[in-house]
Amino acid sequence: MWCLILVFLRVTLLFSFFPLISSSTSEMDPHELETLFKIMETLSADQNWRESHPNPCKPGSSWNGIECKTTGNDGFIHVSRLDFGIPPNPSCKETAIFPAEIFLLPHLESVFFFQCFTNTKTVISFPEANQLLVNSSLQQLSIRSNPALVGLIPSQISSLKSLEILTLSQNKFHGPIPAQIFSLKSLLHLDFSYNMITGKIPFQVGNLGKLVGLDLSYNSLTGAIPNTIGQLGMLQKLDLSSNQLTGSIPIALFNLQSMVFIALSSNKIRGFFPVGLSKLQNLQYFIMDDNPMFTLLPSEFGDLEKLQELRLANSGYFGTIPSSYSKLSNLSTLSLQNNRLRGEIPVSFGNLSRIYHLNLSRNFLDGVVPFNSSFLSRLGKNLDLSGNPGLCLSPNDAHGFNLGVNICKSSKKSGLPWQKSEAHHHHHHQPHGLTSFFVTIIITLISVAWAHLFLHI
Ligand SMILES: *[C@@H]1O[C@H](CO)[C@@H](O)[C@H](O)[C@H]1NC(C)=O
Ligand SMILES: *[C@@H]1O[C@H](CO)[C@@H](O)[C@H](O)[C@H]1NC(C)=O
Ligand SMILES: *[C@@H]1O[C@H](CO)[C@@H](O)[C@H](O)[C@H]1NC(C)=O
Ligand SMILES: *[C@@H]1O[C@H](CO)[C@@H](O)[C@H](O)[C@H]1NC(C)=O
Ligand SMILES: *[C@@H]1O[C@H](CO)[C@@H](O)[C@H](O)[C@H]1NC(C)=O
Repeated sequence: MWCLILVFLRVTLLFSFFPLISSSTSEMDPHELETLFKIMETLSADQNWRESHPNPCKPGSSWNGIECKTTGNDGFIHVSRLDFGIPPNPSCKETAIFPAEIFLLPHLESVFFFQCFTNTKTVISFPEANQLLVNSSLQQLSIRSNPALVGLIPSQISSLKSLEILTLSQNKFHGPIPAQIFSLKSLLHLDFSYNMITGKIPFQVGNLGKLVGLDLSYNSLTGAIPNTIGQLGMLQKLDLSSNQLTGSIPIALFNLQSMVFIALSSNKIRGFFPVGLSKLQNLQYFIMDDNPMFTLLPSEFGDLEKLQELRLANSGYFGTIPSSYSKLSNLSTLSLQNNRLRGEIPVSFGNLSRIYHLNLSRNFLDGVVPFNSSFLSRLGKNLDLSGNPGLCLSPNDAHGFNLGVNICKSSKKSGLPWQKSEAHHHHHHQPHGLTSFFVTIIITLISVAWAHLFLHI
């Protein structure tokens, strides 16, 4: 009898224990589960998702694209990550629209939507203000390559106080950047590249004290780069290329000593280069082609020891190429083509030992090319000196290289071959040749005429 009671007790204990264990590992809060079902019905091609995945956080039945965690101490398991578009994660159905319900999942930490909204026009929407979470856990919101995602960047994004990474790249957003975004003090990376965003870069950008990467490239931003950008002391990457930015480079930019990568190509930024560039001692890339700079090349670039790429093409730079650039021992790419540079290529450029791509084409450079044959063969087709009528190449080095540069003519008089003056002489020969050609023709014509006259008389 006692024995039976004991067995009964043990059995009930066991049974009451098991559900506890399972609820702490794979049971979801019914409200959260219902929210997840709604999200999946909006996104997934599987119309029976609710039936086929009744317990989506349960380890065995877990579904690619959803991650769950037992965060919090409510005994439930919570959705922590939603990931659509990049295999092995599932893709979205053709009629997928933006699921505002993601902002109701209290423990969601990261969301990725890649090529998810491709056919049906949709906007980023938020739940009613009274439903919004006081404490969103969302740290990463990455919405990329969605050709049907249109509209404005909603200011409500600023309610996602935990955001560290915000990527809204390659969508069809238009209109201005809401200044409220810059109240997200935890942001480390902000990427709005490849949209149709207009307006100015809000000065409030300076409030993002932790920002490491800022990419607003390939939009239609106007106005000047705000000086407040100088407050972003942690910034390492700044890409503002391909906008319609005006004004000049803000001096404050040179306070950012963590900076590794700066790209400002294809804007309407004017010279001058403020003094202080050499403070950017960590800079490896400075990419600023296609701007109406019309100024001198700053020699200060030569002090940036870590520089690997310097691109300043198509920007109206005049004057000479600073020889200080030959101090850049790690420089692999130098693009100065299509400017108005004069004078000789600095002799010391021959010891740019890591240079791999050098484009000086379409300038007004002259003199003898200071590169020996080992330099020329190392760069091969990545060296472009064409379109500089005054440049010439020493015949000793020229063998087997077609650089689009004339061969220097030797000067018998001076005994010092390939002098600078030879390069000038060289392209004057052509007109002389032409003149004597025409003189010969005229003399021939006159003598033929004389002969005719003479014969007729
Ligand atoms: C929000 O988060 C903060 C910090 O994590 C916490 O102290 C606070 O209690 C949370 N508030 C609510 C309503 O959950
Ligand atoms: C040059 O590049 C090498 C290899 O990437 C690196 O180890 C070295 O620190 C760099 N030198 C400078 C001055 O940045
Ligand atoms: C570079 O070359 C110049 C002249 O050819 C030479 O005087 C100079 O010492 C060299 N500099 C370095 C850093 O090798
Ligand atoms: C070419 O020039 C470089 C740098 O001045 C030098 O180190 C190298 O020995 C030269 N090579 C030849 C073949 O002259
Ligand atoms: C150099 O620049 C010119 C003009 O932009 C371009 O046409 C050419 O392809 C470039 N050459 C190399 C080797 O990159």
